[in-house]
Amino acid sequence: MTGTPAASPVVLDVTDLVKHHPAARPVGLRRRADRIAVVNGVSLSLRRGETLGLVGGSGCGKSTLARVLTAVDRPTSGRITVLGTRLDTLRGRALRTARRTIQLVFQDPYTCLDPRMTAGDIVREPLLIHRDLTPRADHRRRVGELFELVGLNPDHADRRPHEFSGGQRQRIGIARALALRPRILVCDEPVSALDVSVQAQIVNLFTSLQRELGLACLFIAHDLAVVEHVADRVAVMDQGRIVEQGTVSQIYDTPEHPCTRALLNASPTLDRTPRAGSPS
Ligand SMILES: Nc1ncnc2c1ncn2[C@@H]1O[C@H](COP(=O)(O)OP(=O)(O)O)[C@@H](O)[C@H]1O
Ligand SMILES: [Mg+2]
Repeated sequence: MTGTPAASPVVLDVTDLVKHHPAARPVGLRRRADRIAVVNGVSLSLRRGETLGLVGGSGCGKSTLARVLTAVDRPTSGRITVLGTRLDTLRGRALRTARRTIQLVFQDPYTCLDPRMTAGDIVREPLLIHRDLTPRADHRRRVGELFELVGLNPDHADRRPHEFSGGQRQRIGIARALALRPRILVCDEPVSALDVSVQAQIVNLFTSLQRELGLACLFIAHDLAVVEHVADRVAVMDQGRIVEQGTVSQIYDTPEHPCTRALLNASPTLDRTPRAGSPS
């Protein structure tokens, strides 16, 4: 939707990514290390300022992919290259530094924000962890700046998460993800827990942040209707694999894979008016 020029540099390149989880095994059966590929050979790339929507049914591996891409979990195999640096092979301090550039935004602002901390401290915490990035004397100013960036009143920095609405809480989560000046956001169902009217506001916030900061974004949803207005391209995931990938118009107007068709049919709120330039 931001009309990313094809010449924009690639900021994230993922090749043949695999992540195994131990399979559930009934108690008493032989102790074999059964492994299931929850992410099973995913390849994708993102350019500066571009949004790739990633959709797929529950349990297809979206969150696992999000955690591996942001190095919260490590891959079983495959390559993750962020701004030319291989993230999958880094360890220790080098990994910590590289992780700043690709940040995760969580689905549920109700459970991922520590209820005992103030909103200001939640947003400031990454600055304390990555001390070399922002001098301590600048923390207050930087937190205020981040609040304004996501449409929160900096005067409310002393409030705790329960004093904010669901949408505002998601804004706190986004401000925290932006604190280290990432180049890429991986947003794992960032609006799925919100009311429809609030969803639109948060989607608009992502769009304006991208325009302002040149962020690339992997925007994960289980519903095709959510990514239609935010994505430049869409990838459809099923059982750990990307089964179809294309422009918004290709995916919504001429879907090829049965999974894509099923997701389209299952999306009652989808706006079916033809997009400009799409075949009618
Ligand atoms: N830490 C884990 N250990 C074992 N299995 C897991 C773990 N995390 C997720 N899974 C399994 O991997 C599959 C994909 O989960 P997930 O990535 O959360 O899917 P999605 O986000 O698309 O709903 C599910 O079957 C889930 O039960
Ligand atoms: Mg998930």
